[in-house]
Amino acid sequence: MGIGATRVDVDNVTSYSGAVDSAGTVLTYRGRRGRLSALTRSRVDVVLPLYAVPEGPVNAEQVFGRRAPLVLEIGCGHGAAAIGFCVAHPDHDLVAVDVHLPGLARAAAAAADAAVRNLRLHSGDAVPLLERLPSGSLAAVHLFFPDPWPKAKHEKRRFVAADRLSLLLDRLRPDGALLVATDAPDYAGYLRRQASVVGARVVLSPRPAWRPLAGFELRAVEAGRRCIDLTVSRCG
Ligand SMILES: C[S@@+](CC[C@H](N)C(=O)[O-])C[C@H]1O[C@@H](n2cnc3c(N)ncnc32)[C@H](O)[C@@H]1O
Repeated sequence: MGIGATRVDVDNVTSYSGAVDSAGTVLTYRGRRGRLSALTRSRVDVVLPLYAVPEGPVNAEQVFGRRAPLVLEIGCGHGAAAIGFCVAHPDHDLVAVDVHLPGLARAAAAAADAAVRNLRLHSGDAVPLLERLPSGSLAAVHLFFPDPWPKAKHEKRRFVAADRLSLLLDRLRPDGALLVATDAPDYAGYLRRQASVVGARVVLSPRPAWRPLAGFELRAVEAGRRCIDLTVSRCG
């Protein structure tokens, strides 16, 4: 490990946000403030930099030191799905991104324990990261249990709102796909409506066997909520 090592420059705040950022952009995540525990702080300082994505335009070949299909996971939480994917697909590379630093620090520790080499972890908003990726560069994007923003007045904060969906589809290869999993009753309908705006199609798909039952999916299953998997791809 150690490729692309960059110090993660954070203080003791876990993430920043209101409904919009200083430029007026609608944000998809909640503001969370709190001090990092000593364990998290040490993971942020020592382990997370081993998985860092260097600043600037993302050149996957340079980041991973090889040419391989590239996958992006948005909102990876503690990293269970990202690590499950990387272990099951050693011939793919995956960048996982989340704004929640303690979760990402946990993901880094788990990746180190599992000796995963085809994973990088990025602390921050997925939208500017997508903007740093070349058009048509991603084999897949994973969006598992995104924040549901159930109130109608918040629906623009859902990650799959048309403007973000359009950016994401542009970064996919022509044969690429966005995999979405959700337990939010209205999310699939909303996704279908947004997909029709940007010329994409949505189909129900099987739950990937490599995704461990963990994180928000586990909570949903334990609470008796139905989870569905969907695949989004460009029409034509
Ligand atoms: C409901 S949690 C799901 C976490 C994980 N995928 C799971 O299934 O357990 C949604 C996650 O998305 C992250 N998130 C929301 N908007 C994001 C964005 N624009 N960029 C990066 N992460 C984001 C949140 O910080 C949170 O960790």
